[in-house]
Amino acid sequence: MEKLIITCPDDWHCHVRNGEMLKTVLPHTARQFARAIIMPNLKPPVTTVAEALNYRAEILQAIPKGLNFTPLMTLYLTSSTTPLDVQQASENPHVVAFKLYPAGATTNSDAGVSQLQAIYPVLAAMQDFDMPLLVHGEVTDAECDIFDREQVFVETQLGAIVREFPALRIVLEHVTTEAAVQFVLENSANIAATITPQHLLYNRNAMLVGGIKPHFYCLPILKREQHRLALVEAAISGNPKFFLGTDSAPHLTTLKENACGCAGCFSAHAALELYAEIFEANNALDKLEGFASFFGADFYRLPRNTEIVTLTKSTWTVPDSYGEAECRITPLRAGEAVHWKLG
Ligand code: NCD
Ligand code: ZN
Repeated sequence: MEKLIITCPDDWHCHVRNGEMLKTVLPHTARQFARAIIMPNLKPPVTTVAEALNYRAEILQAIPKGLNFTPLMTLYLTSSTTPLDVQQASENPHVVAFKLYPAGATTNSDAGVSQLQAIYPVLAAMQDFDMPLLVHGEVTDAECDIFDREQVFVETQLGAIVREFPALRIVLEHVTTEAAVQFVLENSANIAATITPQHLLYNRNAMLVGGIKPHFYCLPILKREQHRLALVEAAISGNPKFFLGTDSAPHLTTLKENACGCAGCFSAHAALELYAEIFEANNALDKLEGFASFFGADFYRLPRNTEIVTLTKSTWTVPDSYGEAECRITPLRAGEAVHWKLG
């Protein structure tokens, strides 16, 4: 049977929630990855080092026995974040970055930032203390078409931040467009991007042709095929600016299959396998290890993992759902085949 052995990967963008949902989803991420960047968009958001440490303690409790997993905590930028918050975060080894959500851009982003200029003193402190800025790159203007929101953010906001803070390390999270890929390529080594499995595997037809498929609805929204192709090219290029970030974002099935369905795809159950599929389909399995296991660690200036994992070419069927009744979530590829298996 065909096998692929690579250094243990990390997930550089992941939502694990808290409470009962955390207990349902964390074992999947801990089984797949050695480390994960934990997004801070809880209700209420994680905005201080003390809150991040409490959240970290809750995550550590949820790791199944026998698994080695390190959560890397992030803080949620608000208009009240201060340079002192940045200094305190930089002094704590468990907090590794700040996340910028433009207010209203996505799930639990109401407390985000509405005027980017207003947080420039905080971005200056992040540059000084060498704390990376993780960006949800979408504008929120009501007039801006949802399919254009990332490109417009890149064109009108991101360039200004990069020019003002050239030494600030920035990850443009979950890129979905040619424009975002181009921006990352054109800028310095301080600018990198994560790419999700759903944006590599699917275009917007998957979500909209033959009926609305709410489990493909995430933000930034799936785009047209030319953009998917640009993302695949970036992911398999071997360029260290592009690395794995699942954006695994669980929501109750009842809240996805809803007249006003939530944004987010749950992919932690089969993340590495789904990436392997797309790399294989593009004859680039030899590039998977750099993307999944090296480039993110290098960007965050953390040691690369030393353990290995084995992927086997073997078909299995994803369950229709995970979790107990009150916590039921529908995973990506629910009820369908995945062609690689971890372990
Ligand atoms: C994420 C979530 O549910 O927290 N949803 C999503 O569609 N990606 C938030 C985010 O990363 O935008
Ligand atoms: Zn996310």
